Amino acid sequence: MAFHILRATAAVILVLAGIIVLFLMYYKSFPSPNCHLPPVHSGRLAKQANIHATNETDKPIMLLWFWPENKRFDFQDCKTLFKIDSCYLTDDRSLYPRAHAVLVFHRAIQDNLSNLPTSPRARFQRWIWFNMDSPTSTRRIAGVQGLFNLTLSYRKDADIHVRWKLTLKEKTDQDIVLPKKERLLCWIVESNDLQTNSGERYNYYRELAKHIKVDVFDSSSAENYFQTISSCKFYLSFEESIHRDYITETFNGPLAAGTVPIVLGPPRGNYEDFAPGTSFIHVNDFPDAVTLAQFLLRLEKDNEAYIKYFNWRRIYTARCHLTEEKHKFAHAICQACRHVGKYKEYRVVPDLYKWFFA
Ligand SMILES: *[C@@H]1O[C@H](CO)[C@@H](O)[C@H](O)[C@H]1NC(C)=O
Ligand SMILES: *[C@@H]1O[C@H](CO)[C@@H](O)[C@H](O)[C@H]1NC(C)=O
Ligand SMILES: *[C@@H]1O[C@H](CO)[C@@H](O)[C@H](O)[C@H]1NC(C)=O
Repeated sequence: MAFHILRATAAVILVLAGIIVLFLMYYKSFPSPNCHLPPVHSGRLAKQANIHATNETDKPIMLLWFWPENKRFDFQDCKTLFKIDSCYLTDDRSLYPRAHAVLVFHRAIQDNLSNLPTSPRARFQRWIWFNMDSPTSTRRIAGVQGLFNLTLSYRKDADIHVRWKLTLKEKTDQDIVLPKKERLLCWIVESNDLQTNSGERYNYYRELAKHIKVDVFDSSSAENYFQTISSCKFYLSFEESIHRDYITETFNGPLAAGTVPIVLGPPRGNYEDFAPGTSFIHVNDFPDAVTLAQFLLRLEKDNEAYIKYFNWRRIYTARCHLTEEKHKFAHAICQACRHVGKYKEYRVVPDLYKWFFA
């Protein structure tokens, strides 16, 4: 009797497990070209776990010294959005003496350094230099060169390298389904000085626009970022300034949305450090903007050649980056949390600027 019940129970459990596995498989492979954000818990869940929480865990404490650009998010988001839960993240400065890591946003440091922690740091405490800007937009503040133990930046050789990386699929996909295309070439950019700005990317855009139609959307009012990009065959992934490894979300966006990025930034080889060489078109592949425009117009009519730019999608997935303003720095902060939970090395950054501005 008991045996029958056991067997029946086991069968039910097996069937249920099967359904769950099938559901997960379906769910994982479901295409989402528009990159809708996963639903984030409503309201301010877990306002701030209080200090007692740290007693119960041996997770290292990471203290966020400044909120970058005052863009605040719920620390729980590291767990919900990135499954990162390896440190105790806090902005409570009274935890400073016990913090294993202090994350310091470079741009917020005052020139006289008066808003940095002043009390002596514990032997185990590491300070993390947090800067996502390129050297062009980074202010040199005297006296911070010898303060830090770790660097967090877009740079590949930073201790904590922050970037939206492609991930390898578990199984090769056979079919590539592209979102519907309504436009040829698009650009989302601050557009108020489109005709006068002398930045390199604007110069190139003006040349290009003489020969091919570019649909420009103003970045301050562009809604549905991924949806807009996915409706275009090509997208201008033009970086604001040109530096090694400085390849930002403007490149990740079209990859994630199912569009071909036309890149202007560091040399092609540097892009190929992060994405397959057949996934994008580099402006340097052409002698000038006219030739690029002609090439794009030819590709528009040759679907077979066009679709080849998406072959990488059989093997890799590009993840939609977070576009909500409050999440602008969440990815970086959570990555720091992951690092702090994982690595405990002793380190000193001897000369920050020599490295960063090199
Ligand atoms: C947590 O630690 C603090 C000081 O380290 C102590 O005062 C407090 O009683 C502890 N709380 C619990 C729940 O253990
Ligand atoms: C440091 O600079 C800030 C802002 O410029 C100023 O408000 C503050 O008084 C200065 N502190 C010291 C100690 O000089
Ligand atoms: C962190 O860097 C400071 C300043 O260079 C150094 O004095 C300290 O020993 C370093 N600590 C660790 C844990 O690496």
